[in-house]
Amino acid sequence: MGSLSAIYSKLPDSMDDLPPPPSQQAVAEADYHARHWVSPQTGPLKPGSEAHKRAVAAMFRDTFNPYRPSVIEWPKLDPQTLHRIVSLPIWDIAVQTEGKARLRMAAYANLVQDPDMKDAISRNAWEENRHKEVLSKMVAAYDIPMAPEPPYVEPKDVEWAYLVTGFSECVDSFFAFGMFELAKRSGFFPPELTDTFEPIMQEECRHILLFANWLAWQRAVMPWWRRPYFEAKVWAVWAFLAYERMSLARTVDDKGQEHTQDNNFTVTGTKDVANIDISLPDFMDLCLKEDDRRFAGYDTRLLRPTTAPFLARVIRNTGRAWEFASGIIKANRK
Ligand SMILES: [Fe+2]
Ligand SMILES: [Fe+2]
Repeated sequence: MGSLSAIYSKLPDSMDDLPPPPSQQAVAEADYHARHWVSPQTGPLKPGSEAHKRAVAAMFRDTFNPYRPSVIEWPKLDPQTLHRIVSLPIWDIAVQTEGKARLRMAAYANLVQDPDMKDAISRNAWEENRHKEVLSKMVAAYDIPMAPEPPYVEPKDVEWAYLVTGFSECVDSFFAFGMFELAKRSGFFPPELTDTFEPIMQEECRHILLFANWLAWQRAVMPWWRRPYFEAKVWAVWAFLAYERMSLARTVDDKGQEHTQDNNFTVTGTKDVANIDISLPDFMDLCLKEDDRRFAGYDTRLLRPTTAPFLARVIRNTGRAWEFASGIIKANRK
C-alpha cells in the first residue's frame, strides 16, 4: 500500500508544503478560480478526443485551491451547538468515506495508463486525503466520540471500487449541496464552520465533474468487446448503492457504544442541520438549484452528472403531483 499512500499524500507536481496564503486577496482569487474554468480550446470537446481529455485534466489542475479547505482554528461552540454537531449521525461514515475514497482513487490512478487522466485522478486522491485531515482535526477539536477506523484495504477489483466511490460521490454530493445550503440559511452553525466546509463542497463538485467526464472518456476509448462487461458493472454498482442506502451502518466504538450512522443523511437529515421545515419536493428543488449554481462556472462543453438530478426531478414532480391530488381530495371532503 506504500505506493498508494505516496499518491494520495503527494501532489504530482510535488507542491505538498503548500505555502500559507500571502493575502486575503490571494485567498479570494484562488476561490474564484476553483469555481470558474473555461478551456481556451475552441470547438466542441467530444468525449474520446484528445481535446476533451486534455480539457478535463486541465480543468482539474487549474481549479485546484492551494489554500482551502485548510485546517482552521476551530471556533469555540456554545454547549447547544456543540451538542448538535456531536450528535449528527455522520462522523464515522464521513471520515471513513474520505479514507476509502483517497485509497480507491489512488489505486485507480495507479492503474490508469493515460498521463492526463492519471494526473487528474491522483490529484483527486490527494484532495480526498485533505478532506480526511480536515474532518479528523475537527473530530478531535470537538471531542466527537468515534468508532475505531477499520483498516483501509486495497481493493481487489480496483475499477469496481473506483466506480462505487465515483457514483456514490455523484449522489451524496448532489444532496449535500442542498443540505449545506439549508444549514447555512438556518444559522444553526457558526459561519466559521460553514466557511470551512464550503470549499469542500465545491471540491466535491469538481470531483463529480471529473468523474462524469472520465466515465464518458472511458466509454469512448474502451475496446468495443469490453463495453458490455463494463456496462453490466455500472448497473451492478447502482444496485449495490441502492442496497447500501436502504440500510443504516452500525459500528461500535472503543467504549462499547454502538454508533448508528445514516447512509442517507444528506436526504433524511434536514431537520438535524436546520430549523427550517422543508417539504421533500422543495428540498429536491433546492438541491437542483444548488447543483446548477455550483456547476455554472465550468465550461459547458464538459459533461455533468445526470442521474441524481434526474432522480430529484422525479421525486419532486411525484411529490408535487401528490400534494396537488391530496389537496383536491381534502377540499372535496369539506
Ligand atoms: Fe471528499
Ligand atoms: Fe470527492
